[in-house]
Amino acid sequence: MKGNSPAFSLNDVRDTDMAFLRELRRITMMEAVTRHHPWVDSDQDKRVALHLDSTKVIVVDGRAVGMVKVLRGRKRMRLSQIQLLPEYQNRGIGTAIIRGLQEECRQLRIPLRLRVLEKNRSRGLYELLGFTVTGHGTHTLNMEWNAS
Ligand SMILES: CC(C)(COP(=O)(O)OP(=O)(O)OC[C@H]1O[C@@H](n2cnc3c(N)ncnc32)[C@H](O)[C@@H]1OP(=O)(O)O)[C@@H](O)C(=O)NCCC(=O)NCCS
Repeated sequence: MKGNSPAFSLNDVRDTDMAFLRELRRITMMEAVTRHHPWVDSDQDKRVALHLDSTKVIVVDGRAVGMVKVLRGRKRMRLSQIQLLPEYQNRGIGTAIIRGLQEECRQLRIPLRLRVLEKNRSRGLYELLGFTVTGHGTHTLNMEWNAS
């Protein structure tokens, strides 16, 4: 489903969210990551801990169900990470969050960028939302959305 998502809020990260964020990453990203390289807990935990002040916990009905990390620069915005617990996927929450970021970028007249693992299913969602591939790394694709 890609519209009419359940109501959600985006909350600041508290210390007590850290265990959830590490577990969320393990649940949502292990399959995609291990298609390309081994999963090393300490490396993955470092990714969780990066830019916590730019991270929000996605909350539905008082329950932490996901996270989104957005790096806002003057000339571009980067959707750095977005993850939802499996039982909250495919309900339009990801689409609603990304559309909100696109609206922000439209008003600021800046591009919205992200990097996705080549074999991650989420690439299809980004393409549907108008992102195009602008380059690639070893196992990753750079994608960008512009309002015009
Ligand atoms: C990617 C993700 C944030 C999208 O949010 P969502 O709320 O599930 O997405 P929506 O309901 O708005 O839209 C559904 C689309 O999301 C994508 N999607 C759904 N489940 C997914 C999953 N487990 N992994 C990756 N993409 C997924 C699909 O493209 C789906 O469309 P499709 O059914 O036509 O394939 C969410 O599915 C997720 O957390 N996935 C696992 C973590 C991940 O891959 N994060 C992105 C890293 S770049």
